[in-house]
Parts: sequence; structure tokens; C-alpha cells
Amino acid sequence: MSKFSNHNFSGEKALIRVDFNVPLDKQTQAITDDTRMTAAIPTIKKILNDGGSVILMSHLGRPKDGPEEKSSLKHLIPHLAELLGGNTTVLFANDCIGEQAFLTAGMMKPGEVLLLENLRFYKEEEKGDAAFAEKLSKLGDVYVNDAFGTAHRAHASTAVIAQFFPSEKRMFGLLMEGEVAAGEKVLLQAEKPFTAIIGGAKVSDKILIIENLLERATDIIIGGGMAYTFMKAMGGTIGNSLCEEDRLDTAKEILAKAEAKGVSIHLPSDSVIADKFAADANTSTAPSNHIPEGWMGLDIGVNACEQFRNVLLHSKTILWNGPMGVFEMAKFQHGTKTVAQAVADATGKGAFSLVGGGDSVAAVNDFGFTDRVSYISTGGGAMLEFFEGKTLPGIAAIKE
Ligand code: 3PG
Ligand code: MG
Repeated sequence: MSKFSNHNFSGEKALIRVDFNVPLDKQTQAITDDTRMTAAIPTIKKILNDGGSVILMSHLGRPKDGPEEKSSLKHLIPHLAELLGGNTTVLFANDCIGEQAFLTAGMMKPGEVLLLENLRFYKEEEKGDAAFAEKLSKLGDVYVNDAFGTAHRAHASTAVIAQFFPSEKRMFGLLMEGEVAAGEKVLLQAEKPFTAIIGGAKVSDKILIIENLLERATDIIIGGGMAYTFMKAMGGTIGNSLCEEDRLDTAKEILAKAEAKGVSIHLPSDSVIADKFAADANTSTAPSNHIPEGWMGLDIGVNACEQFRNVLLHSKTILWNGPMGVFEMAKFQHGTKTVAQAVADATGKGAFSLVGGGDSVAAVNDFGFTDRVSYISTGGGAMLEFFEGKTLPGIAAIKE
């Protein structure tokens, strides 16, 4: 059993760093995707069920000059209360430190939850200021880090604060434990064949993850806009497709390294092409290395779908980060949907699949495969850095 599961929180005030950085509707402030909130509920409930109380701290958005209405965590109160069920009292402190927060925290009874105002209303948070972290630490008896989405930040509440709790009073929550376990299974104990699917617009965003995966994966599928930089690097013509001219050499180097290491790189043999970047564009298909002038590749083609599906169905471990095309537009969603289906089918045949990054997760959810993949990560940047092989400050601070 884990440290968290073994800990009895009875009579304790648990200070939990959650990542409630959820997207809000600009007009109504309604939460448009509550995944990160629902993911933290089991941790909160275990503490409440033990007879402890919970103090939640998070950032929301990137406020730069102190408090601002649109980044207030108060917008999350009703939904948090709903997720916790009708009987849980949810209190709110309109400052994460200061008198009100301390008095409210001090008077809390077992079973109650206190949500603190946005940590980033203090510039000390992102600076990792030790005095600010120490003030926060005084709010709780035990520190629980359940904010995997923010684990790549060395901020006051995500990392620096841990030193103010003795080792037995600082731990991961259930979400963080699950993320780390799933991530380590793929990164350190992947059963082979291990296929990584890397998509998205830019090679430059994915160089480090690809380089780390070249040491570990047997196969790397490359889709999305970044595929055309590779096509051009190999001498293809790509019309108006996305291309990072300054990354052509990088693409060549990646291909050469893969060859030397015996890792198979799979690029889309054909593409769905469009005469403009728009939902109502005229479309056609072409080999990905022979895209006519005036046209651009916006999705992988039917042959590439078949090609990628075959690779995935033979895989025992799958990591997916980044879509295959502009899947927000109906005409260019077939590739991403096919890959989602293939990941689900491979998982059904016993593969372990981990999906991360906002777009790939949205695709899996939109296309209805949520329950047919092994693990969906709540991390975007954090998940990327984890698979780049970096030490995440939020993880290291607990393990130290
Ligand atoms: C995220 O959504 O990426 C995390 O919540 C971290 O937020 P940040 O990128 O603003 O640090
Ligand atoms: Mg981010």
C-alpha cells in the first residue's frame, strides 16, 4: 500500500496542492472541462472519510499583477461542492495566506473543505519564494501534492513547501501516485514492442521527447503538422503545409539516430490535403511527399491510417501525445479518430496505453474511447517533461 493510503488523516488538516487550472468560459466563467477537478476527488474523499479536513490550494491561469476577477478560484466553488456531494461544507478564503485564511483553517472541523484563493495572485508563488512557502505550510499538518499538471514547475506550493514538513508528513495524493506509476511503467518498464505516437504542429516542441524515446521505444509514429518538416527534410515537396525551415536539420538528425538505434520511425505515407486552412476547404489526397503547390496536408491519409493502425495493433506499450491532424475540423479528424480507435483496440488486446497532452486527451474523450485506454494523464507540459526524462520538481520534492 502507498504512503498516502496507509496514512490515517483522522484529526489532521491536510494541505493539498491540486491543479485546478481548468479552462473557464470567458463570458460566463463556467468550467468547460472539469477533468482535473474530478481527478483530485478520490484524494480529497479519502482524507475526509478518515476524519480529516482538507485545505485546497491551486493556481488558475497566469495572472501577472495580483488579484483579478477572471482568475479567481471562487468560480470553482459550486462545482467543487457538487463533485464532493451535497453534505460536504466547502469554505472559501479570498486570500491564500493572511488572517482570514489562517483563522478559517484554524476553525475547520473534520469533514470540511477549504478552498484558498489563487496562489499566483502572489508573485512569490512562481518565484518559489521560501518565506511564502513557509507561510502556506502553516495552514496544514500534512502536505499532499496531487498536482501532476503543475509538477514541472518549481513553485512555492508545488515544490519548495515540501521542506517545511517532515518526511512522514509529506506525500503524493492518489492522482499523483497514479500518474507517476503509469508514467514509470511506460518510461522504465515498457513491454516491447513499445510505440510512441507523437503528433502536433511543431517539431521544435517535441524534439526532446523524441530524443528520449529513441532510447526506449521500438517504433515512433509521427503525425500532425510536424510530419511535413520531416517530409521536406527527406527531399519531399509539401506545398503550403506547415514547415519549420530551421528544423530541417533536426529532423534529419532524428531520422539518422533512429536508423542507428534500430528504432522504426513511421511517417504518414499519404495525407488529406486542403486548399486552405478552413473547415469548408476543398479537399483531396496526395502522397505526403508530393503535395501540390497551393495545397496543405491537414490530416493523415487512408493509407497512413492503415499503416499506423497495423503498427499499433502489434504494440504492447503505447504512449500517445499529439493529434494526427486538425481534428477540430470534421474534414480532418479521420486520422486522429483512427489512431484513437487503434489505441483502444490494442489496449483491448492487452497493451498498456497512456495518453497525455490536451489535444490527444480531448480526441480520446470526444471520440468516445475514454474507458478503452489504460491511462489518461492530466498533465500537458508536465507529461511532456516527464517523458523527456527530466526530473519534475513537484515529484522530486516529495521523494527527497
Ligand atoms: C498547465 O495547465 O499547464 C498547468 O496547470 C501549469 O500551468 P502553467 O503552464 O501556467 O505553469
Ligand atoms: Mg502549461
